[in-house]
Amino acid sequence: MSRIEQIGAATLYLGNCLEVMATLEPVDHIIGDPPYEASLHAAKNSLRGRKHRNDGVAELRGLDFDPIDEIREPFVRLAGAKCRGWFIAFCTAEGVARWADAINASPMKYKRACVWVKPDGTPQLNGQGPAQGAENFVCAWAGNGHASWNAGGKRGVYTHLVNNPERHGEHPTEKPRRLMSEIVADFTKPGDVILDPFMGSGTTGVAAVMAGRRFVGIEMNERYFDIACKRIEDAQRQGDMFAEVAA
Ligand SMILES: C[S@@+](CC[C@H](N)C(=O)[O-])C[C@H]1O[C@@H](n2cnc3c(N)ncnc32)[C@H](O)[C@@H]1O
Repeated sequence: MSRIEQIGAATLYLGNCLEVMATLEPVDHIIGDPPYEASLHAAKNSLRGRKHRNDGVAELRGLDFDPIDEIREPFVRLAGAKCRGWFIAFCTAEGVARWADAINASPMKYKRACVWVKPDGTPQLNGQGPAQGAENFVCAWAGNGHASWNAGGKRGVYTHLVNNPERHGEHPTEKPRRLMSEIVADFTKPGDVILDPFMGSGTTGVAAVMAGRRFVGIEMNERYFDIACKRIEDAQRQGDMFAEVAA
């Protein structure tokens, strides 16, 4: 790993998560947004540079990182060794069974595939069939005893706009901050340590520090790492300001 930044309750590593995770102490939860399956990478990259927006928001960009397929099993093995609570990983519908198989071969217990509904997802530009209107995230329990969360009998359906007012806009697969905040609120408790091994531009970290969780983030692309540092620092500073005003 080439850089470590400590920003308030967040520790951020620039490096490959397979190498960095091996050096870490166990964490309470892993909430990760890994690269997609190779098929979706190919589909997204075929749209690279095609203008499809009329609202001034950035055009579709290709993905500048490798698909998850090659590293899924070693990553899940490491996650099983380092996680004491929830393991959550975003994926395509096609990827759910692959994640479930990898999780079931580890000490973690596969629980559910939840859905992120995207009411403003990209339309099917060639008109040859339905567009993708949702993504999934798989949940597994890595702790002792029964799994527990904060949301009672709530269904695992999360609806958030991709193009929301808080969108930072630099990362090609940025998650909505409010989606990540809802997940953090449902699955974790104040003071817990959350690891995002595929941090990108740091949205999980922003949601974590805003909710009073501790955060460990890993990202191998220095440009996205720098954006994550800045966004998490801003979130931390705003939180400190509100605490001062409230005091
Ligand atoms: C789907 S994106 C995460 C986007 C993030 N949720 C956000 O809101 O910005 C996945 C990220 O994982 C990074 N990545 C891919 N393989 C990695 C690895 N082995 N170790 C660390 N980071 C990796 C990519 O550079 C990419 O930024």
